[in-house]
Amino acid sequence: MTERTIRVLDTTLRDGEQTPGVSLTPDEKLEIAVALDKLGVDVIEAGFPITSKGEQEGVRRIAKAGMKAEVSGLARAEKLDIDTAINCGVRGVHVFLGSSDIHLQHKLHLTREQMLKQSADMVAYAKSFGVKVEFSAEDATRTEIPFFKQVVKAVTDAGIDRFDIPDTVGIATPRKMMEYVEAARSVSDAMISVHCHNDYGLATANSLAGIVAGAEQAHLTINGIGERSGNTSLEEFAMGCFNLYGLRTNINYSLLYETSRLVSRLTGVVIQPNKAIVGDNAFGHESGIHTHGVIANPSTYEPFDPATVGRTRWLQAGKHAGRHGIAYQLRGMGLKPKEDSLRLIVEKVKEMGDQGRTITDSDLYQLATQIMGGGKAESAEIVELEGLEVVTGIKRLPSATVKLLIRGQLHEATDVGSGPVDAAVNAIQRIFSTIDIVKLKEYRLEALTGDAQAVADVSVTVEDSAGLTASGRGMKRDIVVASVEAIVSGINALMAKKLQSQPAASFAPTGAQKPIEGV
Ligand code: KIV
Ligand code: ZN
Repeated sequence: MTERTIRVLDTTLRDGEQTPGVSLTPDEKLEIAVALDKLGVDVIEAGFPITSKGEQEGVRRIAKAGMKAEVSGLARAEKLDIDTAINCGVRGVHVFLGSSDIHLQHKLHLTREQMLKQSADMVAYAKSFGVKVEFSAEDATRTEIPFFKQVVKAVTDAGIDRFDIPDTVGIATPRKMMEYVEAARSVSDAMISVHCHNDYGLATANSLAGIVAGAEQAHLTINGIGERSGNTSLEEFAMGCFNLYGLRTNINYSLLYETSRLVSRLTGVVIQPNKAIVGDNAFGHESGIHTHGVIANPSTYEPFDPATVGRTRWLQAGKHAGRHGIAYQLRGMGLKPKEDSLRLIVEKVKEMGDQGRTITDSDLYQLATQIMGGGKAESAEIVELEGLEVVTGIKRLPSATVKLLIRGQLHEATDVGSGPVDAAVNAIQRIFSTIDIVKLKEYRLEALTGDAQAVADVSVTVEDSAGLTASGRGMKRDIVVASVEAIVSGINALMAKKLQSQPAASFAPTGAQKPIEGV
């Protein structure tokens, strides 16, 4: 195992922001930069200052915020770009110029000699401001190796601190990336960096290969956001480096998930559920074989402890489920069915799964209490919906008044929102804000028939301040009522789980959540 520490240049705020449709305000950029600094990245590429006044303000504010990380700005190999970056007060400038024949002939209209001269001149110019200078040979991996080496040599002689190898259109393979790193190393002592794009889904593999070949730094983005199919994802790279290659970074792994959620929320780029490390399903299990294994020993079906990256494991009831998994889930809600009840519950769960239904925590809770109570549903609800009124219209802000009975006590709140559902969600959150923060994490709506009489089937996932989640469902003709019922059922499932994990929680009901049956 080697002692190398790999540096992370985070470009979420520059290449990540180049994701089509993403545009961050200076405030949002600063919020993300603070989180990145806390996460432990070595360089924050805060933006491309020449692009707009707002971008300059964002970069300037980050540069002045006293970050531990080096704050850097991107610049084409042109004086005006470099001046603009420098005027933002950055500690580093990332200068780039295309080096492939495709870029030279069709975009830049430069000869190879002109490219070499302009690169060297602009590196020397940027260096004259006393900042760190990293040079990227854009489209490096489509540049013929002999010319690529000339570029590396020219900018090294001009004084670069770091040389970056961008796989601009994501066409490299791990072997190719290694060849380029070795070629750069053969003519330069400067720090070598790799910058990979994910067009063939190889960005993480290519970046890791570059590191294995001797690169010391990688350009990464949170959640892998970026142009087209994105950049190398920081969370995949950092965990891969450490767990697969024994290479350290300065990343605080336990903050990966919260940073990922923040970036997703502020950029509006949704994380695919099966995304490695930070996707919803990364530590979720449904099949009987897997849940049985994971309950016996998590390492049977998990590559590492989810807590390492700030996450918790969860199990899903469904047609692939088995007895052990369902019993485990029910125990987590305070229910301990006897063998024959458990068998019936599992049978029913599989039946519902065969009908194509996603079984929420509240569905499972209700089903189990019904079977365990001999046919009648056991009411163990802590929170009950007592009343709901919504006012909406074309020229008014929708508002909602929600009345909830919480352990028999009436709570009422009114709030506004972008629509009646949003207003009702806000009113519920307002009620809960004095007790615990309950956030709506996921909302899914399906119509059960295709006409105007359709039943709205709403399933939600709610989350408390400690990151504990539970899913709930509501089905009604009225979409607002269905949504509110789904949230209330999710909150009840959440409270049931919470009581099991911390019995002294402020929600402790008077006995309703005790195990209903069995040991
Ligand atoms: O992908 C790329 O080539 C870039 C450069 C600006 C480094 O993002
Ligand atoms: Zn890029």
